Amino acid sequence: MLCLGIESSCDETALALVRDGTLVDAILASQVDVHALFGGVVPELAAREHYRFMGFLYDQLMSRNDFTAAELDVVAVARGPGLLGSLLVGVAFAKALALASEARFVGVNHLHAHLLTVGLQEAIPWPCLGLLVSGGHTEIYLMESPMRFIRLGRGLDDAVGEAFDKIAKLLGLPYPGGVHLDALARRGRGDPKLFPRPYLDNNNLDFSFSGLKTAVATQIARDGHLLVNTASGDASQILCDLCASVNLTVTESLCTKVARALDRFPDIHSLVLAGGVAANSLLRTRVGQLLEERSGRLLLPPPHLCTDNGAMIAYAGELLARHGFDHDLNMEAIPKGIRMPDDLRHDERKSAADFSRQERMDPLDTRPL
Ligand code: KG4
Ligand code: ZN
Repeated sequence: MLCLGIESSCDETALALVRDGTLVDAILASQVDVHALFGGVVPELAAREHYRFMGFLYDQLMSRNDFTAAELDVVAVARGPGLLGSLLVGVAFAKALALASEARFVGVNHLHAHLLTVGLQEAIPWPCLGLLVSGGHTEIYLMESPMRFIRLGRGLDDAVGEAFDKIAKLLGLPYPGGVHLDALARRGRGDPKLFPRPYLDNNNLDFSFSGLKTAVATQIARDGHLLVNTASGDASQILCDLCASVNLTVTESLCTKVARALDRFPDIHSLVLAGGVAANSLLRTRVGQLLEERSGRLLLPPPHLCTDNGAMIAYAGELLARHGFDHDLNMEAIPKGIRMPDDLRHDERKSAADFSRQERMDPLDTRPL
């Protein structure tokens, strides 16, 4: 089964081809330079950039792999959550392509796709837990099957990546700052007592990071002159130490909730870590250690599949299609903050491992699908 995945929920226009669970090729146009001028994603500009690049990227991807639209079995698209204007560009393109090529059409939950993407490199042991940490979301899930994700906890204010980016901005680092803060943190020594651990004194699995941003702002106001880069343009040691303290506070807060979730599900021993912040060096190490201590297993996508990409949409879309699920062309794009409808169609006859376009198109073929 050949599936084209289209991702345009935020500021990356990304397309990829997955065939039978294996990545064939991927292409991506980042808008980071455009939004860096404004210090954050500008929704109107993001939608225009998606519109500018979508057709070009599609042509490049298909032609360099010698595929035509007629060979696509499935067209999958991120249908949300995300920026509505950006989503609409991808969804409209995907619908038109599915209609023209007679491929099946699948709208994919962007958050579930992040968590499923590790399936491209190793089998996911269902059920497992999933921690999604990105620029827009901090969520923890019980992942029962590719179709059933139960959210156990969520971010109540700033998402963890958003907190990293806002703190990085306060420190004068380039946008998006998470990766720069992480790089400086590796050169510093974190003080575990410098910042309060946010929102742990409770018994739930929700997250809150806006207080940490305020605590860092207060610290900068107190010690701001010490954070200025040295004459060489390099970061001062105190800046590296502060970044290390932020990294440590965020990581340990996330680990506390992960440990709590593992305690609640003693029969579950595996956890998927996904989303852009899953590229964070300390978080990867510490969550790995946490699972090792409990003889569990951490499933971790490679860093380039942690941030937004087309492969995760293609992989998730093909998986859903393979299980017999798809959408009709009425499917809507769902912006952040709106509940995702449960509107996948299911057709048992389409849920077969070896179902391919060839079999589907042959009207005389009566083999069971
Ligand atoms: O998943 P993603 O690409 O986009 C969203 O769906 O939000 O995540 C982007 C987020 C940004 O906030 C970025 O700063 C953060 O992931 N990020 C990191 C690192 N690499 C990316 N945060 C901390 N450490 C990193 N190494
Ligand atoms: Zn994302």
